[in-house]
Amino acid sequence: MDGNGRWAAKRGLPRTAGHVAGAETFRRVATYCKEIGVEYLTVYAFSTENWKRSSEEIEAIMGLFGKYLEEAIRDMEKNRVRIHFFGDLSPLSEPLRDLCAQVEEKSKTFEGVQLNMCINYGGRDEILRAVRAWGENIAAGECSPSDLTEERFSGLLDSAGVPDPDLIIRPSGEQRLSNFLLWQAAYSELYYTDVLWPDFNEEELEKAITAFHSRSRRYGGTK
Ligand code: IPE
Ligand code: MG
Repeated sequence: MDGNGRWAAKRGLPRTAGHVAGAETFRRVATYCKEIGVEYLTVYAFSTENWKRSSEEIEAIMGLFGKYLEEAIRDMEKNRVRIHFFGDLSPLSEPLRDLCAQVEEKSKTFEGVQLNMCINYGGRDEILRAVRAWGENIAAGECSPSDLTEERFSGLLDSAGVPDPDLIIRPSGEQRLSNFLLWQAAYSELYYTDVLWPDFNEEELEKAITAFHSRSRRYGGTK
């Protein structure tokens, strides 16, 4: 969800106003995804690199997470979306971690749609944590290095049990992954648009989906 800062700058507003607008776009797009039957929606909300920002901006973003999570708990029965978190939540404040745990626990039995929120997420960090976990298993004598398969490794990632993304959309004109789902994106279709995230909407999502349907996915094969 990129481009919040530029969206705000264009309007002479502080970056935090861009994040408020971006959070609104997220609510709208997530609702639309549910309506059109998207089974898994994974949003990159805060990366392991985003801590480089000013404390003022970080606090504003964390405040928006808190607000959204409280809303998610309040509207849980109405929305019925299973919510998961990708990333290392340990550096978050205790109230935020507690909200994340509540949201995950209360929504775990919902079926149909799953929302994955990446918070303090980095693809490299996720892979490192998985490698460490596997190393612990080896050290405990539970398995040997040669037992590791792609399937087992996938099962050690934050995305365990979630299919690899079909389509990755990056708004705001940047054409890079920026540490997003590095393992899982191996065969994802990438879609870039110049639209800044706060301006993204249902129509822009439909454009991305239409583009996705025109792609030929061969997974390294010939047909
Ligand atoms: C994305 O918008 C939101 C987060 C990373 C939290 P940016 O804040 O990166 O917006 P730009 O790239 O400065 O426009
Ligand atoms: Mg950015």
